[in-house]
Amino acid sequence: MSTDDIPSKIDTSVPHSARFWNYFLGGKDNYPVDRALGDQIAKMAPGLVDVARASREHIIRTVTYLAGEAGIRQFLDIGTGLPTANNTHEVAQRVVPECHIVYVDNDPLVLAHARALLTSSPEGATDYIDADLHDPETILREAARTLDFTTPVALMLMGILGHVKDDDEVRSIIKRLMDALPSGSYLAHSDGTNTSPEMVAAQDRYNQSGAVPYRLRSPEQIASFFDGLELVEPGVVWCSQWRPDPADAVGGLPAQVHAVGGVGRKP
Ligand SMILES: C[S@@+](CC[C@H](N)C(=O)[O-])C[C@H]1O[C@@H](n2cnc3c(N)ncnc32)[C@H](O)[C@@H]1O
Repeated sequence: MSTDDIPSKIDTSVPHSARFWNYFLGGKDNYPVDRALGDQIAKMAPGLVDVARASREHIIRTVTYLAGEAGIRQFLDIGTGLPTANNTHEVAQRVVPECHIVYVDNDPLVLAHARALLTSSPEGATDYIDADLHDPETILREAARTLDFTTPVALMLMGILGHVKDDDEVRSIIKRLMDALPSGSYLAHSDGTNTSPEMVAAQDRYNQSGAVPYRLRSPEQIASFFDGLELVEPGVVWCSQWRPDPADAVGGLPAQVHAVGGVGRKP
């Protein structure tokens, strides 16, 4: 995107979550302010590059599991991030072309790139909603254009709940979303952990940059967000260890990355 095309709502003077993450994933949809902070943080916590890669690969394995073994045909992916290779609809529709996917994000740059998320297979459907996670009712109302809430849906909250500071608020958001979904639906969630002093220091630096702050939590806190759901094996574990694909080992990711993830089924 050239500078002339930058929609006026995009603030390029402070770093932003989706762009910062895009930089860590090796993408090009970021600005000097995101790259400068990214470089500083990569020096403070070199392991964050592994977290970004492991989280992305974990998303691909999660969606493959949900569309395959779990038989899910509908996905509500909130906190989508900037389009990348293997977006949720591409992975799900590779398994079952009829899958319907609704993406939700509140970043104007993600909205500007949403075209790349709307390339559904002819048999399925995708939609994009410009909305805030703190407003689940709007999300559910608009998602109903594309998703049938009488049959199971996978709610995906990958790398977004750290933006919600308060644990009770996280629980309330998850409850309001999951209550709208029928039995047999799933919650897939992953997030960064406070298990490395370097990562915590780097996160503090990020939070001082003017970007919307992100809160790292303990693995136990993150696991507690699945309360009331039946955890799919192997439970909430380091992202690199959730049903690892033998092919991933080739990339040389460490066994422990400072992010955990899991999948829970609504009974
Ligand atoms: C760290 S990125 C994760 C992207 C993707 N899910 C992944 O794991 O690769 C967090 C995303 O959540 C979005 N986000 C942050 N706060 C949000 C909110 N309150 N409502 C909707 N989206 C939000 C950001 O714009 C960003 O795209």
